[in-house]
Amino acid sequence: MTARAAVLAGIGSAVPPRVVTNHDLAGRMDTSDEWIRTRTGIAERRVVDPGTATSDLAIAAGRRALDSAGDPGVGAVVIGTATPDHPCPATGPIVAAGLDLGTVPAFDVGAVCSGFLYALVTGAGLIAAEAADSVLVIGADAFTTIVDPHDRTTAPIFADGAGAVVLRAGSPDEPGALREMLLASDGLQADLIRVAAGGSRQRSHHTEALREDLYLTMRGGEVFKNAVLRMTESSRTVLARTGWSTADVDLLVGHQANVRILHAVAEQLGVGLERAYVNIGHTGNTAAASIPLALDDAVGEGRLHAGDKVLLTAFGAGTTWGAVTLTWPDRLSRAGAPATSAA
Ligand code: UT7
Repeated sequence: MTARAAVLAGIGSAVPPRVVTNHDLAGRMDTSDEWIRTRTGIAERRVVDPGTATSDLAIAAGRRALDSAGDPGVGAVVIGTATPDHPCPATGPIVAAGLDLGTVPAFDVGAVCSGFLYALVTGAGLIAAEAADSVLVIGADAFTTIVDPHDRTTAPIFADGAGAVVLRAGSPDEPGALREMLLASDGLQADLIRVAAGGSRQRSHHTEALREDLYLTMRGGEVFKNAVLRMTESSRTVLARTGWSTADVDLLVGHQANVRILHAVAEQLGVGLERAYVNIGHTGNTAAASIPLALDDAVGEGRLHAGDKVLLTAFGAGTTWGAVTLTWPDRLSRAGAPATSAA
């Protein structure tokens, strides 16, 4: 009997309409277009306006993914996000309702910038366990809502968006099947990137929280080194388990945190830079959204073809990291042009 695998059946993404350029940022903090481009690879990013929440982006991306899959039916919704609409309840049910999916199970997975990979593996697990025949997996973050807009160490990097895929039950040897998956974490590094207040440890409504405790802080240099190490290690492991060499990889789609991280991972793996996909220039770091947004952009650019061997890898706060191998499905179109509006 062949094992039941999760197979990619649809993809879509959404970003908010407002573009913030490096020049815009240089007008309100001590930074420059030149510094941001050379240190991160980012030229511009999309930012939500007040009133737009993570679920708005997630619903728009989810709808496009469902359209691109035809009429797959949805047995569950899993959302990777670190910026839920509310501390309680989770954003999953709000998104499922917004997509008219009835009473399907819907929940959030919190792994910050590794959130999409965690959600993807969770969705694949629901399919393997026969708890669902198809799963809508979304990575969505209105990440700028937790970033101090005047902090030059974080504001130039982070951005907003959502990306979604539809998984359906299939067989491991068909194109589109997820192959090997690895997830990992190290909570001893929890303070490398965090928002200190607003949770149960430091309740912002009981005390006068310090302004900096309400926003994301990041020890950028340490995060950079750990990201390169963990993304490279986990990629090597899943490649070996899949039985692929680095020469086999048609496209490496890493979490878009910094172009220098993506190039360092590609170089350490021995994957040519032309096979390392980069779209951070116009997206910025969209946290959990970055990998599915990158995949959708790669489809739009004709960079992914039936049967291609694809390697995904991410690193984020937690710390968390992971890697997944998959083959690209026979037919996977992009549902319309890249989203410029969440509504
Ligand atoms: O999404 C998952 C988690 N996040 C990441 O993976 C991000 C990982 N880290 C990074 O991408 C990089 O560490 C950053 C882009 C955040 C920072 O780049 P860096 O090359 O590590 O710069 P740095 O923090 O070492 O700072 C270098 C210099 C410093 O000045 P001095 O001390 O050399 O005089 C900073 O004060 O650049 C200065 N600097 C800036 N200058 C202009 C820091 N931020 C800025 C800025 N504009 N925005």
